[in-house]
Amino acid sequence: MSGDFLALAQPGVQQLSPYVPGKPVDELARELDIDPARIVKLASNENPLGASPKALAAISAELAQLTRYPDGNGFALKSLLAEQCRVEPDQVTLGNGSNDILELVARAYLAPGLNAVFSEHAFAVYPIVTQAVGAEARVIPAIDWGHDLSAMLEAIDSNTRVVFIANPNNPTGTWFSAEALDEFLQDVPERVLVVLDEAYIEYAEGSDLPDGLDFLAAYPNLLVSRTFSKAYGLAALRVGYGLSSAVVADVLNRVRQPFNVNSLALAAACAALQDSEYLEQSRRLNEAGMAQLEAGLRELGLGWIPSRGNFLCVDLNRVAAPVFQGLLHEGVIVRPVANYGMPNHLRVTVGLAAENARFLEALAKVLARG
Ligand SMILES: Cc1ncc(COP(=O)(O)O)c(C=O)c1O
Repeated sequence: MSGDFLALAQPGVQQLSPYVPGKPVDELARELDIDPARIVKLASNENPLGASPKALAAISAELAQLTRYPDGNGFALKSLLAEQCRVEPDQVTLGNGSNDILELVARAYLAPGLNAVFSEHAFAVYPIVTQAVGAEARVIPAIDWGHDLSAMLEAIDSNTRVVFIANPNNPTGTWFSAEALDEFLQDVPERVLVVLDEAYIEYAEGSDLPDGLDFLAAYPNLLVSRTFSKAYGLAALRVGYGLSSAVVADVLNRVRQPFNVNSLALAAACAALQDSEYLEQSRRLNEAGMAQLEAGLRELGLGWIPSRGNFLCVDLNRVAAPVFQGLLHEGVIVRPVANYGMPNHLRVTVGLAAENARFLEALAKVLARG
């Protein structure tokens, strides 16, 4: 007789819903028998520019070394990050995407009987990594779609080990100020690790968003996570990083896979980090695209949640699922966010001008059908 391997999984895992990624272009092309070249994907907050030419050159150069394991300590990338981020190399943890950093935190600091606090409508990976290790996910109601930091503080108890906060948050795009972050960090008990997820921070530079790095020295219980998947345009390579006290970095280093970041990703990330022109171009493209989307939505009489990321959530004022399906038939992939408790919204990533225009046209067409 065979065992019930669902019932045998640990209880937190049994209750987990797997992460639902944006629909891949090839999948839609197969399903609807349309030319993949005609499909616009604005579903995963990817950089529409294509990777930095410098990153591509670094990858080509690295290909000759494919038989070798990567540098398991990521010396070159950690050194560059340390310099740019004003920390020591032993405060840097490299991850297979910043998702990996979130998972390492959960594995190192959470367990059954302990809990992690995070907001309603926050990034879907927080509940996954928390429940996967059998810890309690304490979800705090949002305020105006954003984090209610005071309510999150109140939810912390003696079993809380981690708080996840995202600035700006995905999928809502909402953000909090430097003052709010400072107040929050002052009040969080010192034994609670605050994970400040800054996956989109490069898009927010020069705005009223705080730079998490400014708080690292004062708060040894702070970990800032960042990624090369968004503004640096390297989502496929899976590389992200955490910046924290050396003690926390040492703990995370104990539980990570020995070669969690591959050599192509390491080389490309080093090159991308030094390509400030590419980053600047990505930011400008995002700013212009965001303005284009906002103007188009205004024209359609639709609302949206103001966002500091490279995406925004459109308020359709009705159940969004049929509109999502209608857009797919127009060859436009966006992201439904019902699984984030937002059944009337669709999240759209800022694309190239022509892609944004395709989305707006398709949306107008689908909505006109009623
Ligand atoms: C808020 C937030 N954090 C972290 C990530 C993880 O990205 P990656 O693992 O590609 O670095 C994402 C990706 O969508 C995100 O939106």
